[in-house]
Amino acid sequence: MVQATPFLLVLFLALGAHGLSVKKCSLTGCWVNDLGSNMTITTVNANGDFTGSYHTAVTATSNKIKVSPLQGALQKSPNQKGQPTFGFTVNWSFSESITVFTGQCFVDKDGKEVLKTMWLLRSHVENIEDDWKATSVGVNVFTRLKLQE
Ligand code: BTN
Repeated sequence: MVQATPFLLVLFLALGAHGLSVKKCSLTGCWVNDLGSNMTITTVNANGDFTGSYHTAVTATSNKIKVSPLQGALQKSPNQKGQPTFGFTVNWSFSESITVFTGQCFVDKDGKEVLKTMWLLRSHVENIEDDWKATSVGVNVFTRLKLQE
């Protein structure tokens, strides 16, 4: 018992230090995705609700692109282990469409934060017969904008 105590103490401190040093993924800040779209998440509140803005690099329309608002929610369960899941909606201010994103905030093997997402883009159609072609799906990968790393 006497010999075990220092060993347990060292083990406890090592595990504690490891826990403190593991980098967590945070959504707040400016991100760029693989299409060149920019997204800023301003604040995430205590409930995990967040808001921000989205500047898409591309559009399915012929409209002039404008910065659009986004609203989302971060999963706050303690089991998320610093790599939380999240979802957000972009309500496009220059088109009739709306996009929902769902994803997870990871810390990669180099310690860099990355958002792996999937999205559904719902376009407006004039009638129910066109519903079949109204939704497109894809993936986007976001990394932090370099200037604020
Ligand atoms: C529209 O074209 O009606 C609105 C813009 C849609 C942009 C899409 S959303 C999914 C994908 N990821 C982006 O960053 N931009 C496109």
